[in-house]
Amino acid sequence: MDNLKSQLESTISRLESIDDLKKLQEIRVSYLGKSGFITQEMRNLKDLSQEKKQQVAKELNEMKNLLVSVLDARDVELQNKEIEKKLQREAIDITLPSREIKRGKIHLISHVLNEIVEIFGNMGFGVEYGAHVEDDFHNFDALNIDENHPARQNHDTFYMKHPSEGASLLRTHTSTVQIRTMSKSKPPFKFISPGRVYRCDSDQTHTPMFHQVEGVLIDDGIDMGHLKGCLKEFLHAFFGDKKIEIRFRPHFFPFTEPSAEVDISMDGGNKWLEILGCGMVHPNVLKNVGLDSNAHQGFAFGMGVERLAMLKYDIEDLRTFFDGDKRCSAKHGVDFHRIPKLIWGLNK
Ligand code: DAH
Repeated sequence: MDNLKSQLESTISRLESIDDLKKLQEIRVSYLGKSGFITQEMRNLKDLSQEKKQQVAKELNEMKNLLVSVLDARDVELQNKEIEKKLQREAIDITLPSREIKRGKIHLISHVLNEIVEIFGNMGFGVEYGAHVEDDFHNFDALNIDENHPARQNHDTFYMKHPSEGASLLRTHTSTVQIRTMSKSKPPFKFISPGRVYRCDSDQTHTPMFHQVEGVLIDDGIDMGHLKGCLKEFLHAFFGDKKIEIRFRPHFFPFTEPSAEVDISMDGGNKWLEILGCGMVHPNVLKNVGLDSNAHQGFAFGMGVERLAMLKYDIEDLRTFFDGDKRCSAKHGVDFHRIPKLIWGLNK
C-alpha cells in the first residue's frame, strides 16, 4: 500500500509535464482499468480482516478520488490547449479580398431572338424550327427560285454534295421552313421560324453563319395592309424607346409577289437601313406546298437578326458577335433575369 501511495504521488507530480491526451488515458487505465493498480488492491480487500478492510478501502477510495480529480483537471486543460491550437491553425484572414464571382450572360443574339419570339408570340404567332442541312428543293425550287438564280451558285451556298448528286446543302435562309411547315399541315398558318443560316461569304459586314427569323401568315382575306400593320407593330415593339421611321420599298423576291424591302431610319430619314424582306406569298410557292392559290393567300417576311441587334444595341462590328471574346459577352451579354416572360414559359 505504501508503495502504491508513493508511486501515485510521483505519477501525480509527473502529470503536469504530460501534454498528450493519449498518455493521460494510459495512466488512467494503469490505475483504474480492469487490472489497474488501484483496482487490483480493491480486489485484494476481500482477503483482509474486517478492521483492516475498512481502513484500506478508505485509503484506496481517497487515492482513487485524488487521482480522478487530478486527471480530469489535466484532461480539461489539455483539451482546451488542443482547441486553441486548432483555432490558430484554421484561422481565417477576414481581411483577404473575396474571390471574383464570374457571372454567365446570355449572348446578345440569343437575347434578341428571345425578344423577337416574345413579340410575335404575343401577336399569336407559333414557332417552327427546320433543319440546317437541306436539299435543293426546299432551299430553292419550292421557293420558286429558278435554276439560274445567282444565289444557287457555289460561291453563295455551302454544298455538301454536288447538285448533280442530289445536292445537300447548308440552308441559305430560313424560308425553307415555310415549305417544310406548310407541306405537313393545313391552313391557316401563322408562325415564325428563328434560326441559323449559312452563306459562303465573309467580310466586315458578312459572316458565313448568321441568324434570320422567317414569318408566315396564310389565312382568308389577308392582304398587304395586314403585312404592313404586323411589321410596323413588331418594329415599334422591338425598338421600344428608340425613335425610328419605317419605309416600305418595292423590291423583287422570287417567293413573293408583290415584294418589298423594309428600311428603318434612326436619324429622321437622312440614312435608311434595310432590315427585312417581305411580300405576299407567290402563287407558285402555295402550289408547291399543295395549296390552292385561289382559295388561300397570305404574307411572308424574313429578317436578319444581327442587323436588328446591331441597330438596337449600338454595336458597330458584326464580327463582335462571333469572335468569342469574353469581354464582349461581358459588355453586351444580357443577365438571366432579362429573359422575356413568354420565353420562360416556352422553355418550361
Ligand atoms: N429569304 C430572304 C433572304 O434570305 C428573306 C426574305 C425575303 C424572306 C422576303 C421572306 C420574304 O419570307 O418574303 O434574303
